[in-house]
Amino acid sequence: MTETAKNPHPTKLVHRWPEGAVVYQIYPRSFQDSNDDGVGDLQGIRQRLDYLKELGVNAIWFSPFYPSPMVDFGYDIADYYNIDPLFGTLDDFKELLADAHARDIRVLVDLVANHTSDMHPWFTESRSSTTNPKADWYIWKDPKVNLDTGERLPPNNWRDALVGNSVWEWDETRQQFYMHSWHKHQPDLNWANKEVRRAVKDVIRFWADMGVDGFRADAVDWIANDPLFRDDSPNPDYDPAKDSRYDELLHDNSRGWPTEYAYLQEMTNVFEEPAYKDRQLFMVAETYPERHNTAEAYVAFYGGVDPELAAPFNFEGLYMGWNATSWRRFLREFHGGLRKISKHCVPSYAFGNHDNSRVVTRLGENVARSAALLQMTLPGMVVVYYGEEIGMHDVDIPRELMHDVYYRSRDPERTPMQWSADMHAGFSKADTTWLPVADDYKTHNVDMQHNDPDSSYALYKELIRLRTSMPSLRHGSILVLEVHHPDVLCFVRTEKDEHAVVLVNFSDQVVSCVPGVPLRKLLLSTKRNSKLANLTKSADGHIELLPHEAALLV
Ligand code: NOJ
Repeated sequence: MTETAKNPHPTKLVHRWPEGAVVYQIYPRSFQDSNDDGVGDLQGIRQRLDYLKELGVNAIWFSPFYPSPMVDFGYDIADYYNIDPLFGTLDDFKELLADAHARDIRVLVDLVANHTSDMHPWFTESRSSTTNPKADWYIWKDPKVNLDTGERLPPNNWRDALVGNSVWEWDETRQQFYMHSWHKHQPDLNWANKEVRRAVKDVIRFWADMGVDGFRADAVDWIANDPLFRDDSPNPDYDPAKDSRYDELLHDNSRGWPTEYAYLQEMTNVFEEPAYKDRQLFMVAETYPERHNTAEAYVAFYGGVDPELAAPFNFEGLYMGWNATSWRRFLREFHGGLRKISKHCVPSYAFGNHDNSRVVTRLGENVARSAALLQMTLPGMVVVYYGEEIGMHDVDIPRELMHDVYYRSRDPERTPMQWSADMHAGFSKADTTWLPVADDYKTHNVDMQHNDPDSSYALYKELIRLRTSMPSLRHGSILVLEVHHPDVLCFVRTEKDEHAVVLVNFSDQVVSCVPGVPLRKLLLSTKRNSKLANLTKSADGHIELLPHEAALLV
C-alpha cells in the first residue's frame, strides 16, 4: 500500500519525534514524594524535571496515576478521567505537562484499557443485570455444567496472566462468569463491542486534548481473543521448575487474535483526526510475542498497525539471552523485516520496566554498562526505566512489607528512586516509605554519581548526548557485520556519510576481532582503559576488546 493510500495525511516531516527518542519511564509511586506521605506524586515529579532535562531524555512515560483501588497499583483503573488523590489532581498534571513541555520533554500516559477495575462504574452497571445498557461491555459467559454432578464449570481453560488461575470469576447477580485476563478485580472490557471501543477512543481524545504526546497501551494482546472461546493448547515446552503456571498453556486462543491490529488501528486513527493530525501523537503498545518467533511477531505488528502512529515495545533486551549470536540473528531478522514494511517503522527497545528485574540484577554491573551502550545505539525509540541510569538493583523486600500480588512479586524493581544520601535517599520525608529504599542508597545515588565520570549516570548521560546529537544514531540505518569472533556483536548505523560503529564483547575475556570497516576514532567505551583509545591507521585490521567492553566509534 502506498503511503498516500494508507494515510490521508502523509507526514511531510522527514523525521518524527519518536525516531531516535529516549523515553524515560516513571513509576509515579516511587519517583519523588512531595507531600511526605511516603508515596511519590505528580508535584514530586515536577520538582525533578530539571534532572531529566539534564540527563537529556526526550519524553516521559508515566505509569498509571488514575483513581484506582490499587489492587494492581494503578493498572486497575476506576476512572479514566481523573488523577488518584494519592498522586495529586488534574491541575497538578496540567502543571507537570506544561513544565515538561517547557523543557522540550514530551509526555506519554498509560492507556490501560484491556480491563478496568471492578470498581469502575461501567462494571458496576454491567454486572447489575443481563439487560442493562452496559450488559455487554465486559465478557460474560454462562457456565458449562457437568451433566453427572451438576457442577458449575468455567466456559474454558483460559488462565489469568497474573497468578495463573482461571480467567473466569463467578458473579452471583448475573449468574454468569466474567472474564479477567489479570486479577479478578480487573475484569476485561469486551473490545468486540463497538461501544467499548468508542469509549476508549473518547479517553484517548480527553488526554490528547489536554496536551499529551502519546500513549503507552497496556496489555494489548489480551484485547482480542477467539470469538468461539476455544480452549488454549498445552505448552509442550512447559517447565514447572522455571515457568509460571500461566505458561503451562500456550495462549493461542485467549490472546493475540488477529483483530488486535484492527482494534489498535481504530484507536490510532484518532491521531489523524483534524484536531490532532499535526501533533505527531504516537502509541507504544505492550505486546509479548510468544517466544518462538519473536522477530516475526514484532514485525507483524508494524504490518498491522500504521507504523507512523504506533509501535510495539521490543522486549529482547529483557528476555533474549545475553550473547552475541542471539543478538546478531535477532537484529538481522527484525530490522530486515521492518525495512520491507516501511521506512517509518520505529523500533522501541525497553531493557527494563516495572514488571521485570532490573538490568544490574539480571546482568551484573559490568554487563549492565555494555547493555546501556547497546540499547542507546540501537535504532528507534529506547525506553529507560527510572533508576537504571544510576544502576539501581532489585531490593530484597521482607515478605511482610510486600504489596504486589503477581506470582513473582514485582516490588523489588519498584523501590524509591535514590536521589541522595539523605533520609530515604531524598525520596521522601515521611517516617516510612511505601516500599523500603535500597540499603546501599548512601553510596548509590544521583548526588554521588553526578560528578563522577566513571559512574553509571555519567555513562547514560554521555550515551544520550551522543544518541541525540548524531544523525546516524538517531535516524540511521543498521547493518550487522561479521567480525570473525563468536562473542562480538558489531553493527554500523549510517545516515548520509556519517557511520557509527558499535562493538559489544559479550564474553568475560579479552577478544580480538576484525571489524572490516574503517575506525577512526573512539567516541565512547564502557571501559576506562580501552585499547581502542589509541587506534592506528590500520584499525580496519585486528582490534582488541576488553572483557565485556562495549564501544562506539566513528
Ligand atoms: C502490564 C503492566 O505493565 C503490569 O504492571 C500490569 O500488572 C498488567 N499489564 C495488567 O494491567
